Amino acid sequence: MSEPGGPPGVAARTAALRALGRIRRDAAWSQPALRAALDRAGLPAEDRALAAALVYETLRWEGTLDWALEQVSSRPLRKVEPVVADALRLGAWQLLHGRQPDRAAVSTTVAAAGEVAGKRVTGFVNGVLRGLARGRERLPWPDPATDEGLGLRLGYPAWIVAAARARFGERAEPVLAAGNDAPGVMLRATGGPAARDALLDELRAELRVQGLEPAPAPHAAASVHLGSNVDPDRLASVRQGRAVVQDEASTLVGAAAGALTPATRTDRGRRRAVDACAAPGGKATHLAEQGLAVLALDRHAGRAGAMADEVAAHPRSAALGVAVADGRALPLPDASVDLVLVDAPCTGLGVVRRRPELRWRVAPQDPGELAAIQQALLAEAARVVAPGGAVCYSVCTWTHQETAAVVETVEAAPPGTPQAALTPVEPDLGGAGTQLPGDPGIQLAPDRDGTDGMYVRCWHAGPAEA
Ligand SMILES: C[S@@+](CC[C@H](N)C(=O)[O-])C[C@H]1O[C@@H](n2cnc3c(N)ncnc32)[C@H](O)[C@@H]1O
Repeated sequence: MSEPGGPPGVAARTAALRALGRIRRDAAWSQPALRAALDRAGLPAEDRALAAALVYETLRWEGTLDWALEQVSSRPLRKVEPVVADALRLGAWQLLHGRQPDRAAVSTTVAAAGEVAGKRVTGFVNGVLRGLARGRERLPWPDPATDEGLGLRLGYPAWIVAAARARFGERAEPVLAAGNDAPGVMLRATGGPAARDALLDELRAELRVQGLEPAPAPHAAASVHLGSNVDPDRLASVRQGRAVVQDEASTLVGAAAGALTPATRTDRGRRRAVDACAAPGGKATHLAEQGLAVLALDRHAGRAGAMADEVAAHPRSAALGVAVADGRALPLPDASVDLVLVDAPCTGLGVVRRRPELRWRVAPQDPGELAAIQQALLAEAARVVAPGGAVCYSVCTWTHQETAAVVETVEAAPPGTPQAALTPVEPDLGGAGTQLPGDPGIQLAPDRDGTDGMYVRCWHAGPAEA
């Protein structure tokens, strides 16, 4: 953690501050923005790992850090220049959760703030951080029985704690705490079972060369777990498209949806599937690998374009088409496809392990607004699915509004609507997930399943074909 010509640790903190600024200014997702910022900084591996850890922790604990800083600073954080607020949060995380001595944490952070924002800010940053170091033991933490108190202890806004308590009851705390764990890298072997076994052997060999050992995924046969300190882009199998990075929960959804379509439907050749919200394409390609002819749609042209490029770079099936379309108005006739996957836009609270900043970007009104879109997507899916086919609804979140309440609108739809012709069918999720009280769908969560917090409910359409 040293820098030629500079005090130890300053280069990592400077890179972390620059990355935090970039993520804030562009409202960018942390993972790609951090990678780009660290590539530019050209740090040695140890500094790079430290900078990445500091960025993720600072983003994850933003609310708690802001609260603690406001207890010791005379100036409210919202009145502080954004780059200075970033520096204060970076320093506060080290003082509240880091392992290095206070002096080193403060001096390196102050030096990094000087590098990024100029010498004029160093006095203020130094003063506030020293104040926090002195007052840390006397902070008036609210009772964790309150939503605010638990939120500050676990690093979530109070409204998310309230939503988790409403959804999971006493399990809310473990679910939220597991959202702070490092998820590790999960790979799904592409291709059929034969290719998969060969690939798993190959992966083990590749990893052994790096001194690593893959572990089997608990639920999905096609997946391997590589731990959190692996860069999957360095694996030849990933670069060549023989394996893809995909969380086990998403792999389980793709496999379960593919297995629901009627194998008897051979009159038109391949079974036809529509992935109504397909980008970046993880589940659509998985469906294609299972032998379905897949139309992968996305409303956003940029995302659909990136998916088309990825499909072209790693062609796994001739029967995978990409197009731009709104899943609420599909360019398809009634009763024309065998499977509709609605992997809908959602708050994403089930993937906070990978996107720690997301919890501070989602707003309390978002679950309701997204639930309305999800309902419209499912109504359209019910229209285009053919009798004997299936509709699968999945979201990578757990709020009641986006899960059970949406399913309720499908299952209580009035006679005469396309949704009324749907009958529930249990997807095979390899034993993962649980049913929460009053909700027929399956909720996966990181505390029990070790996966992203994905929710799934599937239906068959009309009478099954003979
Ligand atoms: C959860 S992501 C899908 C992930 C994808 N199924 C996968 O496994 O890689 C949701 C996607 O829905 C798209 N989307 C949002 N609103 C949409 C709409 N009305 N119609 C179609 N796609 C939409 C977003 O652009 C986003 O790419």
